Amino acid sequence: MYPERPAGLAFGGDYNPEQWPREVLEEDAALMREAGVNLVSLGMFSWALMEPAEGRYDFGWLDEILDRLHAAGVAVDLATPTAAPPAWFVAAHPDVLPVTRDGVRIGFGGRQSACSSAPAFREATARLVRALGEHYRDHPAVAMWHVHNEYGAPLGECYCEHSVAAWRGWLRATYQDLSALNDAWGTTFWGQTYTDWSQIDAPRFNHTVVNPAQRLDYARFSDGQHREHYALQRDILRELTPHLPVTTNFAGTVNCKSTDLWQWARELDVVANDHYLRAEQPDNHIDLAMSADLARSVAGGAPWMLMEHSAGAVNWQPRNLAKRPGEMRRNSLAHVARGSDSVLFFQWRASRFGAEKFHSGLVPHAGTDSGQWREVVRLGADLRRLAGVRGSRVRAEVALVWDWESYWALELDWRPSVDLSFRERMDAFYEALWREHVTVDFVHPSADISGYRVVVAPSAYLLTEAGAKNLHRYVEAGGHLLVSYFSGIVDEHDAIHPGPHPGALRELLGLSVEEFHPLRQDETVLLAAEPDAAGTEALPGRIWSERVRPAGAVTVRAFAAGPDAGHPAFTRHDLGAGTAWYLATAPVGGRALRDLLGPVLDHAGVSRPRGLPEHLELVRRGRHVFLVNHGDEPVTVEGVTGVSVFDGVRCDGRVTVAAGAVTVVEETPRTEGERA
Ligand code: GLA
Repeated sequence: MYPERPAGLAFGGDYNPEQWPREVLEEDAALMREAGVNLVSLGMFSWALMEPAEGRYDFGWLDEILDRLHAAGVAVDLATPTAAPPAWFVAAHPDVLPVTRDGVRIGFGGRQSACSSAPAFREATARLVRALGEHYRDHPAVAMWHVHNEYGAPLGECYCEHSVAAWRGWLRATYQDLSALNDAWGTTFWGQTYTDWSQIDAPRFNHTVVNPAQRLDYARFSDGQHREHYALQRDILRELTPHLPVTTNFAGTVNCKSTDLWQWARELDVVANDHYLRAEQPDNHIDLAMSADLARSVAGGAPWMLMEHSAGAVNWQPRNLAKRPGEMRRNSLAHVARGSDSVLFFQWRASRFGAEKFHSGLVPHAGTDSGQWREVVRLGADLRRLAGVRGSRVRAEVALVWDWESYWALELDWRPSVDLSFRERMDAFYEALWREHVTVDFVHPSADISGYRVVVAPSAYLLTEAGAKNLHRYVEAGGHLLVSYFSGIVDEHDAIHPGPHPGALRELLGLSVEEFHPLRQDETVLLAAEPDAAGTEALPGRIWSERVRPAGAVTVRAFAAGPDAGHPAFTRHDLGAGTAWYLATAPVGGRALRDLLGPVLDHAGVSRPRGLPEHLELVRRGRHVFLVNHGDEPVTVEGVTGVSVFDGVRCDGRVTVAAGAVTVVEETPRTEGERA
């Protein structure tokens, strides 16, 4: 259920009026009108004002703000303020303060200072949310509910006494009897057999490595505790206002390691995501695209909401680079291109005090006589012209397998190499596809993937039998799968699938791996040129090498140097109506990976624009084609016919996008004659 209001695309952001005197609030309403703001998120950190003492609720101040916003035509995404429990509450219940893995109980003075499992926190949450819901159930400004803020960030796992009690309950419910738990965790290793549930602790800091299966379960449990805290609030709000959608904002799909968003998305009425550029990283718009594609994917392809991003610099990175002119516009419209129906920011007005006073806002400290404010006003106008995009969908022919459980498992301690990293491989494949102008979805290994021409599994280290079977069926039925090294190694308990490696994928890939040969830091190997393909070049690889023994697969490229020289590095296995490819190293640089990927995409018939410069981002959403030029030169794109949305100009088969600009063309369906 996407919020009905505002109509068109939502534009606005977090609004923290409690930080400002009345005259500023009056100016806010006028400025919001000037910029075309139509949605603000309100109340996110206002528990101390909403409930100044236990059971005493004060919504008067907030009523006035909601009324003023309503009069100004601004809809409200009303937040529950549970991410900032007040001082009186924490003082009365110090046991709610979370404990870190190494045993430190955090103090008051920041935010997220209560454990999701703590009974006092859950009780206070339920009381407050009911009071808030009852008070605002009929207020005409409220368009949706925003529960909490960024679950799991920075508080992923808590190790307090309440967490341990809940954890034991979770284990009993999951395993029923202790011998099942002992088997699943492999407790015969290092003599860890449990004879009573009460002996089981959280996997807290230890001077050596803690049982990996225990840690993996604790990650699942901890994430589930936050979801329970969310669902507690959502259920109350649904009961009081069944007509209003409820959401919570993800702390950046790609960055939030502790939250399994496949599971979270099922609990939300609309997916909401936050994204902040890694300011110093070159081409950081690729990370933005990845975050947006993952948001759309966990939303099942439905439109989602960009709940927060920044108008300019943030304040929490080592060097907080400002956005260059035009960058905020490119960022905003790239999110819309990839399925967002909103462009919202943290925050409306830059704060004068507190921890985030150097964070940009839509209204900067410089005021409205500033380049940033002029860009904000222009963006509002652009978004009004894009209203017709609302509700439309993005279609992708290629999918990347993304599984948070595999992410957690892969990055536990004592793997064959510290260079094995979930994000490193995922980023490498995503970037290669982005530079090929291929739009991708992300999929869970057990999802229905039958509609994709190509599926890539970059780091599917943990793969259940069900997941592996799903991939097998996909290939047999005609799919094209590309698997990267160290995939299909362990099951859901981090136990190795019966050998040889990769136990879950041997048959599908038509090979086995006799031994891993991780490389030294900075060591490279060489993938030989394809013997039968003219024009291919030898490519360097890093991080990984291994002894692959084909059993049905054919060698496309062999290692030409390194510990596995003369043995397969890149293989192909025709199975049923499809093909499974396997890559046993990390090609150096984006170009090398693209040289390998290109033929796979061609073989599977993946359509993509050719001859475009890499920095021209092209995404089709419904009838609209978004062209984002991240470069310093104009780019002419062929094959686009329709009307350019921002200036109404017709383009007949080609359109030129100015340096740093964004053009959106509403395409006109081709006539029968043109199609022939
Ligand atoms: C997060 C939070 C916001 C704010 C921003 C700053 O996304 O949700 O409250 O702290 O970061 O970038």
